Amino acid sequence: MFSLHGPRRSYVAALGLVATASIVAAGPCDIYSSGGTPCVAAHSTTRALYSAYNGALYQVKRGSDGKTTDIAPLSAGGVANAAAQDDFCANTTCLITIIYDQSGRGNHLRQAPPGGFKGPESNGYDNLASATGAPVTIGGQKAYGVFMSPGTGYSNNAASGIATGDAAEGMYAVLDGTHYNGACCFDYGNAEVSSRDTGNGHMEAIYFGDCTAWGSGSGSGPWIMADLENGLFSGRGARQNTGDPSISYRFVTAAVKGKTNQWAIRGGNAASGSLSTYYSGARPSGGYNPMSKEGAIILGIGGDNSNGAQGTFYEGVMTSGYPSDATENAVQADIVAAQYAVTSLTSGPALPIGTSISLRATTSCCTTRYLAHNSSNTLVTVDGISSSSSSTLKQQATWVVRAGLGNSGCVSFEAWDAPGRYIRHYNFALVLAATDGSKQFREDATFCPQAGLGGGDGGGGPGSVVSIRSWNFPTRYLRHYDNVGYVASNGGVHTFDAAGSFNDDVSWVVGAGFA
Ligand SMILES: *[C@@H]1O[C@H](CO)[C@@H](O)[C@H](O)[C@H]1NC(C)=O
Ligand SMILES: *[C@@H]1O[C@H](CO)[C@@H](O)[C@H](O)[C@H]1NC(C)=O
Repeated sequence: MFSLHGPRRSYVAALGLVATASIVAAGPCDIYSSGGTPCVAAHSTTRALYSAYNGALYQVKRGSDGKTTDIAPLSAGGVANAAAQDDFCANTTCLITIIYDQSGRGNHLRQAPPGGFKGPESNGYDNLASATGAPVTIGGQKAYGVFMSPGTGYSNNAASGIATGDAAEGMYAVLDGTHYNGACCFDYGNAEVSSRDTGNGHMEAIYFGDCTAWGSGSGSGPWIMADLENGLFSGRGARQNTGDPSISYRFVTAAVKGKTNQWAIRGGNAASGSLSTYYSGARPSGGYNPMSKEGAIILGIGGDNSNGAQGTFYEGVMTSGYPSDATENAVQADIVAAQYAVTSLTSGPALPIGTSISLRATTSCCTTRYLAHNSSNTLVTVDGISSSSSSTLKQQATWVVRAGLGNSGCVSFEAWDAPGRYIRHYNFALVLAATDGSKQFREDATFCPQAGLGGGDGGGGPGSVVSIRSWNFPTRYLRHYDNVGYVASNGGVHTFDAAGSFNDDVSWVVGAGFA
């Protein structure tokens, strides 16, 4: 049983391994093991990170009945069984409840608890991520990443085997290089066990985003940096390291490693090519040498549960020991060979760009009501619009489909009667607002249509019903509640998130525009 393929042969050679009959295609953690720096945590919702791993990758919970299921690879060492998730989550919403540790140490990631900062849940926990916000393909097979909106976070404050004190460790993560912001802090790695800021050097985590409150790299970002607590570092102490480039890859490999008075940042395109070293050298001064690492694990938040950041995580590991560049290069070759690629963010009825549409509610209370804006720019549902309605009303209920302002794989809705004004969410209420040129506006005005969660066929024939997901808050859907428009999550903390009639309230019949 000897099956080394091209790219795998080269990194095995790079590591100086002697191929034996027992070697099968290696995964990232097999490579780290061969390099003498084994994984002590291995997380991915997209694929197995050991060639022999066939256990659970992650757990999802569905909104319809609160049941959970585990998603495993299609085969040992393979890609996640996304079809199993799609079946389990059909016609309802699903959240990622657990990201399992594949290392055997039980270092699973769960909903992060309140710390220095509280999460948005009523108990102060962070939100869980949608299970469907980040679809990709890996080697042509569909899989889902972890799309994390502000307020979303995972952690493990009782992890085992993660570096503490000044002990050596390494880590990498594969992320979406186009999904980021400047808030603190989209991190993956080593953090405080108390979810509180206990001082400089108490963290060592990968950071990705364009925060400039501490360090930065060249250009306007986003950058791979290291969150070492009370500082995002691009290099040694100096605020700016121009050797740390702005990242524009759709899929990015980000790596950070540290040992006594030495650390490094490395990065590259997760879909092709090799890693580059953006910093390698001494520790910053001021409490970072020696380090005081605590050995908890965070994802999507800072060590004190700062949860304003956004980003997408596909896979990542933490190691015991300081991995060699050659080992990391071999891991990068494995990631490239896995072939991450984009796939459609939408499903359901076609909403062709440039067409004028209307959206009719499907909830039994309201099947004659249409989504419209009123003269104070609030989104409401209006009853009984027809060809004999006033032209003002017909125009207010007509939407022009545009390419998504924040992501062209989804759409934006421009008011027919107010060019340049789009539906956006603001504090989770829908409003009609003029573009202000900001990234925040573009993202808040981007929606991803999918097959209707409810509403039967809405009387418009099969396939005419659409549910419209917020791109940047994919747990949230365009909903009418007391005839006012929101982006609502199924059973979330706001009144308008109520689980009752959720599926129907977020399901709309697509019709021709009235205007
Ligand atoms: C628009 O709708 C909102 C929500 O129902 C309402 O409070 C407001 O008064 C309406 N404005 C106009 C001008 O109708
Ligand atoms: C989901 O809804 C569609 C349309 O109403 C229906 O055809 C399908 O059987 C439903 N699937 C499940 C698993 O309930």
